[in-house]
Amino acid sequence: MPSTPTAGPTEVRKGLEGVVASETRLSDVDGLKCQLIYRGYPIDELAGKATYEEVSYLLLKGHLPARQELADWTAALAASRALDPEILKLMQLLPFGNPMAYLRTVISAIGLSDERDDDGSPTVLSEQAVDLIAKVPTIIATFELLRRKRPMLGPRPDLGHAANLLYMLRGETPPAEHVSALDTYLVLLAEHSFNASTFSARTAIGTRTDLYSAIVAAIGTLKGPLHGAANRKTMEVLQEIGAPERVDAYVEKTKADRQRFMGFGHRVYKGEDPRAKHLRRTAQALAVSSGEPKWFDISERLQQRVFEAKQLHVNVDFYSASLLYYIGIPVDLFTTMFACARMAGWCAHVMEQAADNRLIRPLAKYVGPRDLRFVPLDRRSAS
Ligand code: CMC
Repeated sequence: MPSTPTAGPTEVRKGLEGVVASETRLSDVDGLKCQLIYRGYPIDELAGKATYEEVSYLLLKGHLPARQELADWTAALAASRALDPEILKLMQLLPFGNPMAYLRTVISAIGLSDERDDDGSPTVLSEQAVDLIAKVPTIIATFELLRRKRPMLGPRPDLGHAANLLYMLRGETPPAEHVSALDTYLVLLAEHSFNASTFSARTAIGTRTDLYSAIVAAIGTLKGPLHGAANRKTMEVLQEIGAPERVDAYVEKTKADRQRFMGFGHRVYKGEDPRAKHLRRTAQALAVSSGEPKWFDISERLQQRVFEAKQLHVNVDFYSASLLYYIGIPVDLFTTMFACARMAGWCAHVMEQAADNRLIRPLAKYVGPRDLRFVPLDRRSAS
């Protein structure tokens, strides 16, 4: 039944700040208490304890998997990692530009070859979700090998999600400490309620388009520096600073120039991002074992000085930067690691939106001129 016309919009909430757009069972971001829960589990219960396989299952299926459920889920992910030959062929023809743009393009191409494009049933969405969660690490690693002109490597089904990603990027079995650090990172970034990229995915699927289109929209949104690219920008800042004793001058200049501190601030959290302490602890351990504490030392001093200067807290991207750097991820691939983690959250939101859909279509308050008269071209002057 068509809804009753209402009066025009009264209040404008720029950036939809404070607007509750829908309900979700996937996660809760409590900005005042600075707490994050995934399907009832505080993030502190999962970080460093659960693997990405367990958390992706939790998000998509609604409960932590029992032993056999986990074995089946892990096997299904491992079996879906390989890319089809025509996709691999296409990947060799694409320009090796921004890795996020490359990832977005390859996922779009995978969607093009899926004939179930307009079958949005829960079963098909679930199969497509598993397939994409499994394939994203392969796409990222293949991109890296191709652009470095190194031989392509097939995925290793005997390795877990994080270990296989590192193996494919490097061509050798990664150390256990790096695997566990990456797993912690993937778990912490797997889901975060109605952030910008997830909202893009939900808006897209709300039109009853396909899952690939929704994920492409999400990747395009995550690519921006106010969202996922903040991890890469943070690392570039750490490299620009170069030494702990140069932090103070950087903070003074950035403040004087009225520039943003990357990896600081958050729309929802009023204090420190609850994921940051886990990432900080992991980065610190890596700093010690790597014998190169500089990046962590610069980060710590920067965190202190920015708080003193602007009362800004770090967000999830801040300690992600040194963590990813210590485990050998190339800096321009950082945001693709974020995408790799968030695949589970995006797919779970797509399925949740599709299961109880209403088209997402907000209003805007028109503030332009009205009642203008058409002027023929020969009587128009340039403005
Ligand atoms: N550095 C300097 N000033 C800041 C920062 C920052 N990082 N964050 C907020 N502010 C200031 C901003 O300049 C503004 O001041 P004023 O009112 O004097 O103009 C005020 O705080 C409010 O800023 P806003 O942009 O209206 O607030 P927001 O809620 O939209 O900001 C944010 C959220 C994430 C866009 C912002 O904090 C920011 O730009 N941070 C840097 C980029 C970043 O780290 N992004 C990652 C976000 S969290 C994880 C993710 O999504 O990937």
